[in-house]
Amino acid sequence: MSDALKVALLGAGTVGSQVARVFLEQSEEFSSRVGRPLELVGIAVKNINKPRPGIDRALLTDDALGLVSRGDIDIVVEVIGGVDPAKDLILAAVTHGASVVTANKALLSEFGPEIYKAAEHHGVDIYYEAAVAGAIPIIRPLRESLVGDEITAVTGIVNGTTNFILEQMTNLGSSYEEVLKEAQELGYAEPDPTADVEGFDAAAKAAILASLAFHTKVRLSDVSREGITAITAADIAAAAEVNGVIKLLARCDVADDGSISVGVHPTIISRKHPLAGIHGAYNAIFVESRYAGRLMFMGPGAGGTPTASAVLGDVVQAARNRVRGTFAPGLLAYLDRKITPAADAKARYFLSLQVVDQPGVLAGIAATFAKHGVSLQSVRQNESEANHAGLNLVTHVAKAGDISATITDLEQLDFVKPGIKTLRVEGA
Ligand code: HSE
Repeated sequence: MSDALKVALLGAGTVGSQVARVFLEQSEEFSSRVGRPLELVGIAVKNINKPRPGIDRALLTDDALGLVSRGDIDIVVEVIGGVDPAKDLILAAVTHGASVVTANKALLSEFGPEIYKAAEHHGVDIYYEAAVAGAIPIIRPLRESLVGDEITAVTGIVNGTTNFILEQMTNLGSSYEEVLKEAQELGYAEPDPTADVEGFDAAAKAAILASLAFHTKVRLSDVSREGITAITAADIAAAAEVNGVIKLLARCDVADDGSISVGVHPTIISRKHPLAGIHGAYNAIFVESRYAGRLMFMGPGAGGTPTASAVLGDVVQAARNRVRGTFAPGLLAYLDRKITPAADAKARYFLSLQVVDQPGVLAGIAATFAKHGVSLQSVRQNESEANHAGLNLVTHVAKAGDISATITDLEQLDFVKPGIKTLRVEGA
């Protein structure tokens, strides 16, 4: 196949093995779609002796740098993950004239701008549909389909593990620890779940989404982040009382002064919001734009075969561009928007307090909110132990800094028990 486009694959784990399998299954079809044959010429793996059913051993190499530096590779597919050595390998591939398809959210959320600049310099493509929300087409819609619009907010459930855990807690009334253990036994959660449950995985995806939606550089370090490990069965029950469910939401929006706010937080979302109906390990991204209005994209956010679908869509597109001598739209951010300081980021908040049940308590609490300019939307009182009551309050939109100051003052009141719980609120 002398006129074939040469494809090199870096990594043959859960995603890479499925990319190789589907590539080989579909290669004739891909040739028709591209107009030239595509040939998988090498697969770089750590251990070439490990049995890999369905993969021709002759394709395997443990010299990834040698493979991407051959000089005759058209497209390098990177599905190793992590920054090191993926970053050096991608930069080497670009320098040697290869277009790159990657699923690497950690790398792009930290070093995206450097990589896009190198690709632009060498006249090659970088595609990364699989880096955010697995199989769901969201990068291309933001990068191309919606580029004639003005996106005002992107809200997503972009981590399936945490969505599964929170839903099980909601359905079973179980604790976080119980559900995590079960999820690990079933293989839904990793043995070390930190990246998922502490929100790092979702924060990397949020940085990538915000960069594209708002045409500016947003890095992982710009994203405020809070995981789900402190969520209790009582929080889930309190969310139900205000007709909501708790989801780990990635929220990207624009403040009145044009600055960008990007955060990942466990959030009470109204049951009426479309994101409330996303079940199990599914992902969804809700885009609000000035002209198109509200759009939702949903589907499998992980898994070998669904992620391979997104990767191979990029391979076919990168191959088509090579055949025609064209490139994808540029990725260099043309705006230099500021990041909203964390204390100025706005949201609605839910607060749960235990108070002594006596005259004047509610007035004192309301005065504390008023002192910091925080307006209350609803207040609900539940009986708890003798002479005590539980208060669940929802605020109107307020600044995070004003909420923190309110909590500090509430904690000084002798009729408020220690341990005020706060969650953000989204939707009606
Ligand atoms: N661990 C992620 C999730 C998938 O649970 O959704 C890969 O980003």
